[in-house]
Amino acid sequence: MIAGIDIGFGEVKVVTDTKKEFKFRSEYSIYNPKTVLKGVNGKVNLLPFDGKDYLIGQEVEKVGGSAITISDVDNLIELAPLFLQSVVKKIGFDKEDPDSVLAVGLPLGAMHRKDDMKRQIRKFYPHNQVIVLAQGVGIFVDSGLKNVLVIDIGHNTVDLFVAENGKIVTEENDMLGDEGVKVITNKLHKYIQGRYEMNLSTPKLQDILRSKKVLCMGKEHDIKEDINEMIDNYSTSLIQRIATQYAQRLRKTEKIVVAGGGSHYVNFRGTKWAQMVHIPEKAEFSNARGFVKIASALKKPAAQAKGE
Ligand SMILES: Nc1ncnc2c1ncn2[C@@H]1O[C@H](COP(=O)(O)OP(=O)(O)OP(=O)(O)O)[C@@H](O)[C@H]1O
Ligand SMILES: [Mg+2]
Repeated sequence: MIAGIDIGFGEVKVVTDTKKEFKFRSEYSIYNPKTVLKGVNGKVNLLPFDGKDYLIGQEVEKVGGSAITISDVDNLIELAPLFLQSVVKKIGFDKEDPDSVLAVGLPLGAMHRKDDMKRQIRKFYPHNQVIVLAQGVGIFVDSGLKNVLVIDIGHNTVDLFVAENGKIVTEENDMLGDEGVKVITNKLHKYIQGRYEMNLSTPKLQDILRSKKVLCMGKEHDIKEDINEMIDNYSTSLIQRIATQYAQRLRKTEKIVVAGGGSHYVNFRGTKWAQMVHIPEKAEFSNARGFVKIASALKKPAAQAKGE
């Protein structure tokens, strides 16, 4: 089996060559039977890992615990095996099979830590093949296009990739830190704080950003207009920023591929680049889909793969 696993700061996206596709929030908590009431909100799935019991993703909410999210790249590397453990269980990945591949990503700006990531995962998966790729490269491969500017809009970062004649133009790659969808959720946080006097967690804010409704004191409020304005402002300023930085490239390139979950909030309609834009289907999975494609090309025959 080949599993493409895109561990983002917001969500973990999983695609396999056996046609599985799902995602969950990149958050966890350690289960403590003394402080949480197991099963209050239905059955909870505990994940035993490294001597402790964990709750992963949406499971955290079920016991009303507070979630811990990935704080930075060091933390991402450290926690990768924990999230993989949860994935492996769900997809029936064989940990003993040297022919099975885990293809995972790191943010573009953290690729110098590639070997650390690989070492950390191999500690827990010594028998499988582990491939570490730059987040965003998957989107380029998934698009099947040769001359592109790829914009991967994540929760924290916006990663930019350029490819010309099928080859990545490394000097033009860039990562805009803190320019992802969290720009909108931070605004929304302040807005809800001011208007409804509520302090909400990031996952809650992400839900509201999608539903455009807030529940306060038993009443549901429609805040569609205000949210749409926040989204429009974000979209306009991000496009402006990228258009300035990539002015030359945008003249030369064939397509602009907009992917990542943030592609749902950036709208090129009405701009002079509108007809160049390509948004992959289920854009937040595009990177993980591409990882599977890259891994099928890179994977080694099982006999050779031992100790890789
Ligand atoms: N189908 C969707 N519809 C609307 N919003 C979405 C959808 N999928 C994801 N999002 C939102 O888009 C944002 C970015 O999602 P994505 O999964 O690309 O982030 P990430 O990869 O976890 O972050 P980063 O790349 O910064 O590590 C999230 O804040 C999420 O709430
Ligand atoms: Mg991402």
